[in-house]
Amino acid sequence: MKVITCIEDLRRIYKRRVPKMFYDYAESGSYTEQTFRENITDYQKIRLRQRVAVDMTGRSTESTMIGQKVAMPVALSPVGMTGMQWADGEIKAARAAETFGVPFTLSTMSICSIEDIAEHTTVPFWFQLYVMKDEDFVDAAIERARKAKCSALVLTLDLQILGQRHKDLKNGLSAPPRLTLPNILNMMTKPEWSLAMLGTQRRTFRNIAGHAKGVEDLSSLMSWTNSQFDPMLDWNKVARIRDQWGGKLILKGINDADDARIAADFGADAIIVSNHGGRQLDGALSSIRMLPSILRAVGDKVEVHIDGGIRSGQDVFKALALGAHGTYIGRPYIYGLGAMGQAGVTKALQVIQKELDITMALTGVQKAAEISRSNRQHILVPKDFEGEWA
Ligand code: GLV
Repeated sequence: MKVITCIEDLRRIYKRRVPKMFYDYAESGSYTEQTFRENITDYQKIRLRQRVAVDMTGRSTESTMIGQKVAMPVALSPVGMTGMQWADGEIKAARAAETFGVPFTLSTMSICSIEDIAEHTTVPFWFQLYVMKDEDFVDAAIERARKAKCSALVLTLDLQILGQRHKDLKNGLSAPPRLTLPNILNMMTKPEWSLAMLGTQRRTFRNIAGHAKGVEDLSSLMSWTNSQFDPMLDWNKVARIRDQWGGKLILKGINDADDARIAADFGADAIIVSNHGGRQLDGALSSIRMLPSILRAVGDKVEVHIDGGIRSGQDVFKALALGAHGTYIGRPYIYGLGAMGQAGVTKALQVIQKELDITMALTGVQKAAEISRSNRQHILVPKDFEGEWA
């Protein structure tokens, strides 16, 4: 196999090995995909300051996220349907994260359940919760996460209604895939994926199946999210969940300074500046572009994390240097998983850590944990980066 040197190598292999409908699911944004694209391209507008003759020995990418020690400040994002990207995908990603020493976040919309992950890992993971209309489901999910010893609840606020991704509709996305002729023909070109999938029982949304009432057709993500997710979610409900959980809470999906201010007063342990990887509100500004105004709005009240568009250790460095305390990757580890299973997730983490480390060396930084407090001294940010919007 050719040498894998970057996340893009993993994406190419992933595209060959995984059925089109799941590749498309991961590799899409909503509508015109403007936000999806700009999440990536806006990182390229920030440049790095090359510094020399600074002792580069003793470098460390270690840091903390919500007080937990991490090998680098890069957590695995919750990604729906990960167990369709590769058999038992969530278990494999969680194990890779555990060995590497970064947090794994399990999505409510995962294939493997909270209990599956607890059974196959030895360190606490984070659980991402969607607020559903069925309050019993939400209560039970919180209890299940507690029982599994999850060390943080990640509450997503930006997906009470699913953004439209054209390809998912055109592909008839479902878990498991329907046995139509085009799907069968496509799966025949993905023999390793198909064989691995036949070897597991985990092929439906196991956090939901048998736990939520009135979900008739679980295979269609779009139909059940649209019928089950609670459109009445507001800050009062968020408060109820915060109090009921009582543990570390991360609020995900903040992409505006006004919302950030409310979230910061909420007693959350962290917020994640996010537009859901460009999968929800098409036309929103990229998360990296929103980061400065959100940091100004919250000050030191809450730890600020960011996701969306990170494809390299340089991107991680830029997010930290702009002031984020932690970052998340979603697609990069999914590429790794689809390319090479658990070893591919590890590879994605290794690639990013090495890039981060070398970037630190060449910018004259020794400790990743100190980058977010460096007051932008390691980067060059164009004057018009945030834009002037009326
Ligand atoms: C779910 O979180 C999705 O973006 O599809």
